[in-house]
Amino acid sequence: MAHDVIDELDFEGLTEDEAELLEEVLGDFGESRRKFLGRSSTAVLGALVLELLYEKNAHAGTTESVTPALEENPITVSFRVNGAAKSLTFDSRVTLLDALRERLALTGTKKGCDHGQCGACTVIVDGRRVLSCLTLAAQCEGKDVTTIEGLAKGNELHPVQASFVKHDGFQCGFCTPGQICSAVALMNEAKNGDLSYVSTDFRQNPHALQLSDDEIRERMSGNLCRCGAYPNIVDAIREVHTGKATDPLGTQATSQTEVHDATV
Ligand code: FES
Ligand code: FES
Repeated sequence: MAHDVIDELDFEGLTEDEAELLEEVLGDFGESRRKFLGRSSTAVLGALVLELLYEKNAHAGTTESVTPALEENPITVSFRVNGAAKSLTFDSRVTLLDALRERLALTGTKKGCDHGQCGACTVIVDGRRVLSCLTLAAQCEGKDVTTIEGLAKGNELHPVQASFVKHDGFQCGFCTPGQICSAVALMNEAKNGDLSYVSTDFRQNPHALQLSDDEIRERMSGNLCRCGAYPNIVDAIREVHTGKATDPLGTQATSQTEVHDATV
C-alpha cells in the first residue's frame, strides 16, 4: 500500500532526519528512483515515513515496530505487556497509548479524545485501569500492562468479553476495548472493596462488595459510548459480577452461572 505511492513522492518538505529515514526504508524496499509531485504535505510525508517503518518491521516479523526515530529525549523502559517482557526506547514524552498503538502494534486500544475525557484508551496497569492517553510510557517501568488483546486465553474469551457479546454491549465497537478493560478492572475494585462516589454502605465486607446497577453506572461513567449501548453494557457487567445469567431480552435471572475469575 505505502509501497504503491512511493513513486509519487519526493523528499521536499521533510526534515533532514525524516528524509534520511525515508531514504533508508526505501532502500530496504529496493526502490532506486522516486519522483516528486510537489503537492504532498509534510504531514503526509511524515505519516508515510511511519507507515513505511511499520511495513518494514512487519516484513521483518517483529511486533516491536518502529526503530527509535526522531527522538529527542530517549528513555528505555522495561515492562510487561500482555504477559510479554518488552524493553523499548521511547521519546520520554510518548504516551502509553501511542507506545501501544504505534510501537507495539496493539491497535485494540483506541484513541478517542486523546484528552482523558472518553475512556476509549483505557488499559489495565498492575490491576488498575488507567487512561493510556494520560499516562506516559516512561511511567510504566517495571509494570504489568494489560490491553484488550491480552484478556482472552487463546480462543476463549474473557468472561467480560463473552458477556458483552451475549448482551450486545456494543454497536460500532469503538469504545468497546476501553469499556471491557474498565469493566475487568471494576471487578478487581469490587474484589478489593474499593468504594465509589455512590457507595452507601461502608460496613459491607470489603472483599465481597455487591455492586448495584447504580454502582456499575458510576464506576463506568468515565467510559463514553456514542452509540448509547449503556443499558446492555450494564447488563453484561452485572451478569459477570453477580454470576447470575440473565436473558439478554429481559432482566430475569435465568440461572446461576459458573463464577469465573473475571479479574486479571
Ligand atoms: Fe484517552 Fe479519550 S483517548 S480518554
Ligand atoms: Fe459505538 Fe460505543 S459501541 S461508541
